[in-house]
Amino acid sequence: MVTAGDPFRVAGRVWLRPGREASVRRGHPWIYRGSLATPLGSSSLPVEVSSQAGERLGVALPGSSGASLALRVVAWGNEEWSAATLQQRLRTAVSLRERLGIDADAYRLVHAEGDGLPGLVVDRYGVYAVVELYEAAWEAYLDHLAQFLGTAVGCAAVLVRRPYAGRAPVEARVGAAPTGVVTVREGQLVLPVDLVKGQKTGLFLDQRENRRRVAELAAGCEVLNLFSYSGGFAVAALLGGAVAAVNVDASGDALALAREAYRRNGLPVVEGDFLRGDAFFLARELVAAGRRFDLVVVDPPAFVKRKGDLARGLAGYRDINHKALRLLRPGGILVTASCSALVGEAQFAGALQAAAVDAGRRVTVLERRGAGPDHPVALACPEMEHLKVLFCRVT
Ligand SMILES: C[S@@+](CC[C@H](N)C(=O)[O-])C[C@H]1O[C@@H](n2cnc3c(N)ncnc32)[C@H](O)[C@@H]1O
Repeated sequence: MVTAGDPFRVAGRVWLRPGREASVRRGHPWIYRGSLATPLGSSSLPVEVSSQAGERLGVALPGSSGASLALRVVAWGNEEWSAATLQQRLRTAVSLRERLGIDADAYRLVHAEGDGLPGLVVDRYGVYAVVELYEAAWEAYLDHLAQFLGTAVGCAAVLVRRPYAGRAPVEARVGAAPTGVVTVREGQLVLPVDLVKGQKTGLFLDQRENRRRVAELAAGCEVLNLFSYSGGFAVAALLGGAVAAVNVDASGDALALAREAYRRNGLPVVEGDFLRGDAFFLARELVAAGRRFDLVVVDPPAFVKRKGDLARGLAGYRDINHKALRLLRPGGILVTASCSALVGEAQFAGALQAAAVDAGRRVTVLERRGAGPDHPVALACPEMEHLKVLFCRVT
């Protein structure tokens, strides 16, 4: 049923330029401004999308005005975009997570395009749900989302973050935001999370399965955790039998969380194991001081956020991995990540190989990994494949 103020009401119709319907037909939900034959109004209500020949391709939500990504498809072909469709997408996303048997109470419940809800992320942290809106158009659906997360998922509080609006404060839509740090479980790890001031929605949930893998490989190792955030890789390694771990991060708040993570896992907090500063600079200092490690994790922020950053970003990956390689003992393990969606695995591996040549080391890839299965990626939309992680042996 359509009512006044109904966020599912289709506000108009747009036509694509000839030939631009092919990628939508293949299931890619993004429509760029340059593909539109008719201008898009300023409304954030959904619009019907048609091919030049008049074929209905689906219903899409508008992107921010002026951005080159104009529309994201939420219903396909003749499918209706309605409260029932949204509910169905959410139910499917939740039942997929139940099937996956994730050994954690913090995981991604809705992964945007990968769950057929482009521009919308929902992360679960125990009884808290954190909704992230990447487009203003999703604002209109918050009541539907909050009701679903409360009744069907059983969340006691629903917090909203708005990456589309820059640094907007976190809103408690249902219940109250926690006044301090909350604790979640990830396998055998207990991790403190700041849902209000932390980075991302609180944790880098995409690395969960890779933290678990590090725990399996770390017995007896001295570990260096570059770009540590709240120390998850180091805690995983220490619980897995590592003999020592050093965390490096530029953020004092991140390192405070890392110390808290140690305490909550019964690990001793030694001040020298938490180094605050630029990882490029501190890695160079560690090389100069003759420090060497058996396992090094390199998990920097995305160096390439737009196409124009590519050359500089790849140089950054080469540089930091060169330093990491110099810090590894022969036979050591490098776990190196890129979360730049615009950097393909082959490009990332190329930067690593260049670093290996610079460092005079040989690198053998043991495993190519990515985000866990709670971050599904539609094959039709490979741009969502952001995280690449190489587990390597270095001689
Ligand atoms: C992708 S996150 C790391 C996530 C972490 N590995 C985990 O599993 O939770 C990147 C981290 O790099 C830190 N960072 C950004 N620039 C940095 C720099 N130049 N030197 C050191 N840390 C930096 C951020 O504060 C953030 O904590």
